[in-house]
Amino acid sequence: MEKNIDWANLGFGYMKTDYRFVSNFKDGKWDEGTLTTDENIVINECACVLQYAQTCFEGLKAYRTVDGNVVCFRPDLNAKRMADTCRRLEMAVYPEDKFVDAVVKTVQKNIDYVPPYGSGATLYIRPYMFGSDPIMGVKPANEYQFRVFTSPVGPYFKGGAKPITLRVPDFDRAAPHGTGHVKAGLNYAMSLHAIVDAHKQGYNENMYLDSATRTKVEETGGANIIFVTKDNTVVTPKSNTILPSITRRSLMYVAEHYLGLKAEEREVRFDEVKDFAECALCGTAAVLSPVGKVVDHGKEILFPSGMEKMGEVTKKLYDTLTGIQMGTIEAPEGWIKVIQP
Ligand code: PLP
Ligand code: COI
Repeated sequence: MEKNIDWANLGFGYMKTDYRFVSNFKDGKWDEGTLTTDENIVINECACVLQYAQTCFEGLKAYRTVDGNVVCFRPDLNAKRMADTCRRLEMAVYPEDKFVDAVVKTVQKNIDYVPPYGSGATLYIRPYMFGSDPIMGVKPANEYQFRVFTSPVGPYFKGGAKPITLRVPDFDRAAPHGTGHVKAGLNYAMSLHAIVDAHKQGYNENMYLDSATRTKVEETGGANIIFVTKDNTVVTPKSNTILPSITRRSLMYVAEHYLGLKAEEREVRFDEVKDFAECALCGTAAVLSPVGKVVDHGKEILFPSGMEKMGEVTKKLYDTLTGIQMGTIEAPEGWIKVIQP
């Protein structure tokens, strides 16, 4: 039985659901893992995650399709990205096939929280891992806990499809040769002051530039960026200090193979931004959120698509991607994983 939740008015927040998956790594191996109703974690005061922030996470969603199935989108890519993150953070790697199994099991156990088709809400899935044993000298933990919880969510930005405003901050998100390309909790800790400051000044998000030269566009605190040129080419920044967004990789494929557009992943200089016709943020949480304006220290760039609605190409990309996720448009082979109830 579907839960009695006001799906249409959900924001992007945490809501406790019934079950979560837990697996522990000890003495060099992972245990079988189990599903538990206990949402709390008890760990040692000196756990590596608490002292040295040895933690990482993933984010994906379960969708209710037009024909009533529950599916998730490319979970194998989240599994691989988490493994890449763990290697970079000297954490134990959770096997990729077991990651997908854990996601499936957790969604199955919380299936009544998957919002109905057309409600505008989805079930957000949060796999994560942390170093759990006491560590004093600076070094990686010996023991780890991998968990997966779910929470029904609505749009990441209030107002859904209404264009947002970004500002170019004086803060950096990632260092050259640092951890910007993996999903480390520390990257988000880095961004907290910048986002609080952006909100204080009336902006929705930060458009980070590359920290080495501060001349090239990178991404925001929680999403990659796409631009559309005046002749309808979809352009996304290429950089080895941004997160390889699964949504962005999927959108570039959709642009080329479904919409017949040119799609380019290349360096984007900030001084080119004023010449684009459309801009949007893309990610699991953000989906595809239109950007109307970018403000760089008082200088405003207003995209021709304006502050009222999504640009035309952005809208086509949005409709196609969400159509694939919700089962109204045929998906490329391997993109959709059906979760049996
Ligand atoms: N960039 C950052 C910094 C993110 O946190 C996310 C969210 O996961 C993304 C980009 C988008 O990635 P994905 O499309 O895989 O969710
Ligand atoms: C996601 O899109 O899944 C994210 O992780 C972005 C943000 C909520 C951190």
